[in-house]
Amino acid sequence: MNQHLRPSSIPFIDVVAQRQRLGKSIDEAVSRVLTHCQFLGGPEVTQLEAELAAFSGAKHVVSCSSGTDALLMVLMAKGLGPGDAVICPSFTFCATGETVALTGATPVFVDVDEETFNMDPASLKRGIASARKAGLKPKAVIPVDLFGQSADHDAIAAIADEAGLFVLDDAAQGFGASYKGRRLGTFGLATATSFFPAKPLGCFGDGGAILTDDDELAASLRSIRVHGQGTDKYDNVRLGLTGRLDTMQAAILIEKLKIFDDEIASRNKVAERYARGLGNVVKAPRLAKGCTSVWAQYTIRLPRGSNRDAFAAALKAQGIPTAIYYPKSIHQQTAYRHYPVAEGGLPVSEALSADVISLPMHAYLDAATQDRIVAAVHGAMQG
Ligand SMILES: Cc1ncc(COP(=O)(O)O)c(C=O)c1O
Repeated sequence: MNQHLRPSSIPFIDVVAQRQRLGKSIDEAVSRVLTHCQFLGGPEVTQLEAELAAFSGAKHVVSCSSGTDALLMVLMAKGLGPGDAVICPSFTFCATGETVALTGATPVFVDVDEETFNMDPASLKRGIASARKAGLKPKAVIPVDLFGQSADHDAIAAIADEAGLFVLDDAAQGFGASYKGRRLGTFGLATATSFFPAKPLGCFGDGGAILTDDDELAASLRSIRVHGQGTDKYDNVRLGLTGRLDTMQAAILIEKLKIFDDEIASRNKVAERYARGLGNVVKAPRLAKGCTSVWAQYTIRLPRGSNRDAFAAALKAQGIPTAIYYPKSIHQQTAYRHYPVAEGGLPVSEALSADVISLPMHAYLDAATQDRIVAAVHGAMQG
């Protein structure tokens, strides 16, 4: 009943609009791969790695099968294992801590900053102390550039250096963003990113990459991604994975990288328009000084005590999708409850998991549609 009066649904992430913009160029890139038939290790893989290195400023780019494998491969290359601790934020996607646990090392979860949602350096210090108290050897820290915004890399590097930890930046959501004028990809020992289709730079399947300036690490990663190959793939000098990015995805990413800067600029315009429109009815995300974002998500915080389910339902009734990243922080998840957390607990992560909600965000969100979303947010908060 009254179907014709229902407002039309809008997409949360508009992959179709981007597909239309790129149309022929993607079809032709895929067709080139279908013609040369080098489905793994084709020329597009080498070309993409060179272009990502030029884009980010990193010396080496090792493309791989996913963002999860990108994190795992670095931890494997560094020989992480039982008795080692890796400090991670808890308010993030599970893969950040999961890859640590997969190596046999122990993830130690720390809290995030209330304003930026990124790792809180003070909690990082407490996490290192908690790891030591638990008899573990802290070896690494994995800051996450959450929702697209760069973490506070200088503050984290200073603490990591003092404690003798290496930094593995999880830029799965933040690739393309910068910190103090420098693009992500060159902070710490290595940076991992994801090309999952919904990411700001996404392919049409699973994919990822590791960026590093370290020659030795890059060589180990190239070996790990092909089952620990030595002189060839039937000479196995270490444990590894089927960790390659396939040529088709590389060909697609080459085309998408051409418009990535333009898309980042559009995403920033969308974020600015949201910030102006939302005013003080909800807490809009804030960029820290020196940090930029690629706005993988536009995540707002509802006032304490708001009914988040009712808010989401009110927007849904108007054809506006929302998503909750993340309804539980990692340390609250069944699979991770037994791992240590920083002393004093993680109150900010837990509060954010209860209060945040993400609005539609992509480079093709037009002003009229955005006005509709902003009006719906105002309406939901008044209702
Ligand atoms: C912060 C973070 N780390 C790691 C990953 C894992 O990436 P992938 O899905 O490509 O394995 C994701 C992807 O969602 C992520 O958001």
